[in-house]
Amino acid sequence: MSNKLYFGDNLEVLRDHIRAESVDLVYLDPPFNSNAGYNVLFKDRGGRPTQAQAEAFCDTWTWGPSAERAFDDVIAANEDVSLVMRGLRSWLRESAMMAYITMMAARLIELRRALKKTGSLYLHCDPTASHYLKLVLDSVFGPKNFRSEIIWKRSSAHSDAKQGRKLHGHIHDVILFYTKSDQWTWNDIYTPYDEAYVNRDYRLIDEAGRRYRRGDLTAAKPGGDVEYAWRVKKPIGARERWTADIDEEYLKPKPDWEYKAVRPYKRRFWAYSKENMKQFAKEGRLRHTFDGMPEYKRYLDEMPGVPLQDLWTDVTPIIAGNQERLGYPTQKPLALMERIISASSNPGDLVLDPFCGCGTTIHAAHKSGRHWLGIDVTHYAITLIEQRLKGFDERAAFAVQGRPASFADAEALAKRDKHQFQWWAAWFVGAQSYREEKRGADRGIDGSALFANGPYGHGRIIISVKGGENVGIGMVRELRAVIEREEAEMGLLITLVAPTQSMIAEATAAGFVKKSAHGRLPRLQIVTVADLFAGTLPHLPPLPEPLVGSRPRVVRNRKPDPRQRELMLTFAGNKTLKVDGAFVDPRYLSFGDQTMAAEDDLQLPLGDAGGKPKRRLAVQ
Ligand SMILES: C[S@@+](CC[C@H](N)C(=O)[O-])C[C@H]1O[C@@H](n2cnc3c(N)ncnc32)[C@H](O)[C@@H]1O
Repeated sequence: MSNKLYFGDNLEVLRDHIRAESVDLVYLDPPFNSNAGYNVLFKDRGGRPTQAQAEAFCDTWTWGPSAERAFDDVIAANEDVSLVMRGLRSWLRESAMMAYITMMAARLIELRRALKKTGSLYLHCDPTASHYLKLVLDSVFGPKNFRSEIIWKRSSAHSDAKQGRKLHGHIHDVILFYTKSDQWTWNDIYTPYDEAYVNRDYRLIDEAGRRYRRGDLTAAKPGGDVEYAWRVKKPIGARERWTADIDEEYLKPKPDWEYKAVRPYKRRFWAYSKENMKQFAKEGRLRHTFDGMPEYKRYLDEMPGVPLQDLWTDVTPIIAGNQERLGYPTQKPLALMERIISASSNPGDLVLDPFCGCGTTIHAAHKSGRHWLGIDVTHYAITLIEQRLKGFDERAAFAVQGRPASFADAEALAKRDKHQFQWWAAWFVGAQSYREEKRGADRGIDGSALFANGPYGHGRIIISVKGGENVGIGMVRELRAVIEREEAEMGLLITLVAPTQSMIAEATAAGFVKKSAHGRLPRLQIVTVADLFAGTLPHLPPLPEPLVGSRPRVVRNRKPDPRQRELMLTFAGNKTLKVDGAFVDPRYLSFGDQTMAAEDDLQLPLGDAGGKPKRRLAVQ
C-alpha cells in the first residue's frame, strides 16, 4: 500500500478504505480536552459546567445521535465489548465521557480489524480517560494482549503551587500498548545509563581514558574447559530421600585449573575456557587484584544501555522555541514517535495514524523507511503534513484522498462540515492563513492572502466563503464592510451556488483597488466553486506559489514575481524561515518566542507585518 493522507472522519475512512489485516503498527493520539474538567465530562451526573467549559468541548464528545449510533454498532461487535460498554453506560449514562468512550470504542474495533496478526497498537491519552480506555481496549483486544502502560513525562514540573494549587502537578501522559496476538514485532531499544549509575558503577578509567567496571571471570558452574573427576552419588536432601533417582550418579568437576598460578575461589569455576582467557589477556581486557585474581574490564562504551522501560522521562516535549515546533497544538515530539516506530515495526512495514494532526507519526515513519497512512478530519492538518513532508523530503511520494476533486465533492463537503468546506475553499484560491468563522467583529473572514504590492508594501485579500444554498446581497455588503474595516486591498467571496445579479452589481460597485502595483484590480470579486473547478479564476495579483505540490493549479493572471517567496517569508514574525533545511510557508511557522497555546487552541498566523496572531481558533 502506498503512502496516503486521508482527509475525513477516521471511522468512515477506516471502514471504507483500510483493508483488514493490512497494518503493522497503529499509533493514535485522539483529541481530548482534559482541561474541560470532570464536571463537564460527567455533566449528566450532576456537575454544572460553566458555559466556557461547555463551549470548549467539541460536538464529537457530547452525547447525541452519532454517539447513540456508534454505541449500537459497538455493542454488536462482540460479547466482551458489549458487556463493558453497557456496564460503563449504566454508570456514566449519556455524559461527555461516555460519548468519548463510545466514539473511541467504535474506532478501536476498526483499528484492531486493520491490524495484522503480528500488529501492535499504541493509544496515547491522559489520566483523565486512560482507565476507561484501558477497559475498552481490554474488551476489544483481550486482556491478555495488554503489554504495557507507558508513562511519558510530557512537561516539566509546574511551579504554580504558590498560586494555590492543592494537588500534584499533572505532567504525564499515558500510552497504552496492546498487541493483536501473542506474536508481535519487537526490536530492542536501549536508552543511555543515567549519570549517577555511571559515576557509581563505571568509576575506573583505563590508560586510554575509557570508563569500565570490573567483571567476575568465575561462576558457580564451569563455563569452559571442565575436567571431571569422581563419580559420586547424588547428594540427597530430606525430600529426595524417597525418590526413585536416589542412586543416580553424576560427574563432579575437579577443582578447577590454574590461570597464571591462580585458581578460582572455593566452590567457584572459571566462567571461560583457557582459550578465551588467553584472548582476553591479549586484548588487554584483564586486570588483576592484589592476590593475582584476574578480572574482566567491562567498558561503558561497549554496553548497549538500559533496555527500554515503561517510564519515559527522556523525551522532551515540544515547547516554545523548539526547532521542531510547527505551531500545531498537541504536536508530539518526533523522538517519541521514532521510539515507538522503531520498537514495534520494521522498515517496509505499514504504520497508521488515524488522528494524525500535524503528522509527527507520518514524519517519523517516512524518515525510518516505513510505509504510512494518516487520517485527519481537518483540512488544515492535511495541508500542514504535505508541507512538512515536502520540507523533509522533497521527493516524498504520497497521495491525498478525500479532498474535493469535483464540484460534487465540494458540495458534499459543504453539507458535511461547513468549516472544513470554508477552509478548503480558501486554501484552493491560495489563502495563506485560515480563520474559522467567528462571532463578533471578525465574522466573515475565512482566510486571507498577502501579496507583494510594489511601492505600496503588502496588500491583503480577505476571503469569505459561503457553502450554503442561499446567497444574497447582504453577504457582499458584509464583505465590503470587512474590507473597509480591516483596511484590506481586496475581497473575494467564494460561493457554492451562483450569485444573484444584485450581488454581482454590488461587487462591481466596490470599484478597483486604489493603490495597486498590478494594474487595475477589482476590489471585490465573486467566484463560484464551479468556476474554480472550470478554471475560471478571479482576477488576483500574483500570490506566492504554494510550496505544497498537490494544490490544484490555479492559473494566475500574471507570472508570479520571482521575489515573492522571499517576501512571503518575512511576514511570519518568526525568524526561523527554514524547517529541516527547507523554506516553509509562513502560515505553518510558529511565532518566535510566544508561548504555546493551551492544548486545544489552535493559533493560526495571520500574516500582518507584525506577525502577531490575532485570532484563536478552537479545535477539538
Ligand atoms: C491530538 S491531535 C494529534 C496530534 C498528533 N499526534 C501530532 O503530533 O501532530 C488530534 C487530531 O485528531 C484529529 N481528529 C479529531 N477527530 C477526528 C476524526 N473523527 N477523524 C480524524 N481525525 C480526527 C484532529 O483534527 C487533530 O488533528
